[in-house]
Amino acid sequence: MSTTFFQGKTAVVTGGGGTLCSAIAIELARLGAKVALVGRTVAKLEPVASAIQSAGGTALPLGADVTDATAVEAIRATVAKELGTCTLLVNGAGGNRNDAVTTLTEFQPEEIGDVLPEGLRGFFNLDPGRMADVIRVNTIGTLIPCQVFGREMARRGQGAIVNFASMNSYRPLSKNLAYSLSKAGVANMTQWLAAYLAPAGIRVNAVAPGFFANERSRKILMDDRGGLTARGQNVMAHTPMKRFGEARDLLGAVCWLLDDESAGFVTGITVPVDGGFLASSGV
Ligand SMILES: NC(=O)c1ccc[n+]([C@@H]2O[C@H](COP(=O)([O-])OP(=O)(O)OC[C@H]3O[C@@H](n4cnc5c(N)ncnc54)[C@H](OP(=O)(O)O)[C@@H]3O)[C@@H](O)[C@H]2O)c1
Repeated sequence: MSTTFFQGKTAVVTGGGGTLCSAIAIELARLGAKVALVGRTVAKLEPVASAIQSAGGTALPLGADVTDATAVEAIRATVAKELGTCTLLVNGAGGNRNDAVTTLTEFQPEEIGDVLPEGLRGFFNLDPGRMADVIRVNTIGTLIPCQVFGREMARRGQGAIVNFASMNSYRPLSKNLAYSLSKAGVANMTQWLAAYLAPAGIRVNAVAPGFFANERSRKILMDDRGGLTARGQNVMAHTPMKRFGEARDLLGAVCWLLDDESAGFVTGITVPVDGGFLASSGV
């Protein structure tokens, strides 16, 4: 990978206060990029910005909801003024919510009974509004920054975008209907945009992380004593490398995809970073 490509370039990292994209933002800054960190909670972005600044880098924390086009346009103007035109975009903002997943892995008659047992949520009990929130943040929350920052890149005739897909983009995981369909949408949108934006000089790719423990998934995968829950054990049984990913495992793939000198002919792909999960049938 080129060691100079990122020097002085302006990168926008949405979800830059989160588990995975904070590490990506710090790495881009270490490689010389000026980094704008975007999320709804500025307090989550500030420690990441401070870490970058303490190491001599440039970082700008900016609060915005990525599903709000007006808010994203406002931060685009601030980024352009403070850091220069964005040519590198990492769309990491996204995730799932507990009330949009089923508690069941398959249909149970109780979910259509007259009285729903407490704590049970089957497909027939899912709230479409909560599911729409998940679909919206992962799909529209990727599409809007692509439009807003992509327009600038198209004017310049240069840019690279990395989206966040998931193992759910390939095959849906049990319980995660809305999240799965949203991440399948991200992989599909990545291909569509890659084809559409190639004449504008913009490459669009994605990474598909396997299982990385973040604030939410840690509670699902691990128990209070740091052992694995039944679901955690199931994941591990299907992960040939027998560990969860760590944010640093993504840095090479993301930086490679962003780097025009190393990946200049690469567009429209989704790179699994998953310890072999996708390759393994588990049988
Ligand atoms: N961890 C995994 O195992 C895994 C696996 C596959 C894919 N992914 C994907 O990788 C990406 C990063 O995941 P992560 O594990 O780092 O999650 P995370 O720690 O929860 O970070 C996600 C960040 O996105 C921000 N965000 C959420 N909704 C937003 C919105 N509407 N507008 C702006 N910012 C928003 C959150 O900050 P605020 O709440 O302050 O806005 C949060 O800091 C996500 O797209 C996730 O779906 C993760």
